[in-house]
Amino acid sequence: MDTLTDGVVTLNRWRAEDLDVLVDTVSASREHIGEWLVWATDGYGRAEGTEFLTSTAERWASGEAQEYGIYTADSTLAGGCGLMRRDDGREIGYWLAKTCTGRGLATRATALLVAEAWRLGTPHVDILHDELNTRSGAIPARLGFTLHHKEAASDALAPACSGNDFVWRIQRPG
Ligand SMILES: CC(C)(COP(=O)(O)OP(=O)(O)OC[C@H]1O[C@@H](n2cnc3c(N)ncnc32)[C@H](O)[C@@H]1OP(=O)(O)O)[C@@H](O)C(=O)NCCC(=O)NCCS
Repeated sequence: MDTLTDGVVTLNRWRAEDLDVLVDTVSASREHIGEWLVWATDGYGRAEGTEFLTSTAERWASGEAQEYGIYTADSTLAGGCGLMRRDDGREIGYWLAKTCTGRGLATRATALLVAEAWRLGTPHVDILHDELNTRSGAIPARLGFTLHHKEAASDALAPACSGNDFVWRIQRPG
């Protein structure tokens, strides 16, 4: 679905017209996000934002991923999140602007994506994070995921990462 909401947080499918707010939001939190996510480590400008908005539209069209902006009740862009195909299940990822952390927004966004995954018939959902990224790991722990296994990171590493990922999993109920 293009929009998901719990009344506090709203997830809106990314649109081309989100370019300015996306670039401004990531740029203002570049150190905070880039510490853990390599796509923001070396700066984030209009070229990177355009590339993301183009590729996310392609991933949505192909069914590979549903990626959303996370909005607060006053329509502020707080971050981004996505539900991506992984093996026979799906994976969730997220980031928040630094000023929007500590309020449960990423946990709420993740809960909405888990519900969407069940609606899509997904058998299980995984969340991967570097073993040193404890704030990221607190989200699946809060939502009832269990630690499934540890694996070597497959992508290039952001500066704070160790290279070992924890993989959390939740199974579709019933
Ligand atoms: C990972 C990241 C999204 C986590 O942000 P966060 O603010 O810790 O997560 P939430 O928005 O779910 O907020 C949780 C905090 O809000 C509090 N909270 C308040 N109301 C809450 C609610 N209704 N539900 C859950 N938590 C709530 C929690 O107690 C927690 O507080 P704490 O920080 O004192 O532990 C953020 O640190 C980030 O963007 N990091 C950089 C990018 C990144 O690492 N992405 C993940 C890569 S794997």
